[in-house]
Amino acid sequence: MDALISRLTAALGPAAVLTEPHDIAPYGEDWRGLYRNTPRAVLRPADTAGVAAAVALCAAAGVAIVPQGGNTSMVAGGIPSAPDAEIVLSLARLNRLRSVDRAGLTLVVEAGMTLRAAQLAAEAAGALLPLSISSEGSAQIGGVIATNAGGNNTLRFGNARDLVLGLEVVLPDGAIWHGLRALRKDNTGYALRQLFAGSEGTLGIITAAVLKLSPAPRERATCLVGLASVAAVLDLFARFRDEDDAALYAFEYISGTAMEINLRHMPDGRLPLGQSAAHYALIELATTRRNAALRTTIEAVLGDALEAGLIEDAAIALSEAQRLAFWALREHVSESQKREGASIKNDVSVPVASVPALLDRAATMLAKTYPDARMAAFGHIGDGNIHLNVITTADPEALMADVNAIVADLGGSFSAEHGVGLVKRAAFGQWRDETERGVMRRIKLALDPGGGMGPGKVF
Ligand code: MLT
Ligand code: ZN
Repeated sequence: MDALISRLTAALGPAAVLTEPHDIAPYGEDWRGLYRNTPRAVLRPADTAGVAAAVALCAAAGVAIVPQGGNTSMVAGGIPSAPDAEIVLSLARLNRLRSVDRAGLTLVVEAGMTLRAAQLAAEAAGALLPLSISSEGSAQIGGVIATNAGGNNTLRFGNARDLVLGLEVVLPDGAIWHGLRALRKDNTGYALRQLFAGSEGTLGIITAAVLKLSPAPRERATCLVGLASVAAVLDLFARFRDEDDAALYAFEYISGTAMEINLRHMPDGRLPLGQSAAHYALIELATTRRNAALRTTIEAVLGDALEAGLIEDAAIALSEAQRLAFWALREHVSESQKREGASIKNDVSVPVASVPALLDRAATMLAKTYPDARMAAFGHIGDGNIHLNVITTADPEALMADVNAIVADLGGSFSAEHGVGLVKRAAFGQWRDETERGVMRRIKLALDPGGGMGPGKVF
């Protein structure tokens, strides 16, 4: 190990190689503070050539690497899989904007740029990077793509992989794949960029990406609605889609329990409704059209829904500050749950129409089997993606297995947008059949025969 550290120090410079326990400890702990595996060292190369040199040296020495971005993974995807066994390679210093093409609506950024910084770079060019997740201030582009993050605008623009036109990747042997093509059409064999999107750092290290932008919206309108049932939430979703599908940028769900916990832990949290409700929907319309009067559209849909007895209460944001305050209520849910105490995350998806059945069946199962459990569900209901989080001291593996059984029965997925990482490996083994896992294993083996790239993740 000492010889490898000397070679890495010679290649990257001493400032880019951390070995002191207090320097490396934070890189071994996930953001929830639940999983801890100290790395043997942390590398902080400054550019793609540095990443390639580091990977080649580690591969030659037979020492495994785990790539790390903002370390905001919900499934401990950015930390080592075992203590004192792997080297963390942080992409944080690869944070440059390489180029923006306003006419072609593309953005080329390095992997360590935060999602928020990339959004601002797009904004400065008068465009929109249509990907938004609660951790966007810390999450980095490389990790966002490697986990195929979803978030609040999947409904309209797809997941991270749908925004990737090209990638630059350092492969497990240290070779660099120069795939930074900014093409809308590029039908030349296998779509390698899609192989690395969602690969969770097991096939190579993304060092830069060409992202697809959209024109910046001229107008946005946002509302928060209180409803009595999940079925009513879905009915309201259908009404907004029927009214103006193209303008429906977000349709998010917060259960009464999740909102109550949220308001307790948010410093300035305030419910902008006259009364609390059993369920809430946060809805955003946006458009590039001139004079679209989206607020009028919202008023019309909500007016009809009120008349039909579908909604209980609603507030429309009247200023940008109010709009941001509504969104803060949604974006703070995870943080509030962390403060509330031990919770188990179930990031699941089912066909949209099955969401009420999912929540009903989960509530019944929890009441019967886990008496102390409080279900604090929320999420991207427009995508059928519910964060069916449970506040409990119960054994996580047992509870996740019980939730996943219901999800599977409804034709759903045990991981909608967070990936597999370290936390969902048992579910992956249980709910993906041998054929599917076998294909993935063969791909992994073909690209990383030595198994040195992100070992212990996914499989
Ligand atoms: C979110 O949508 O806020 C996160 O993906 C959810 C979580 O904390 O489970
Ligand atoms: Zn989410």
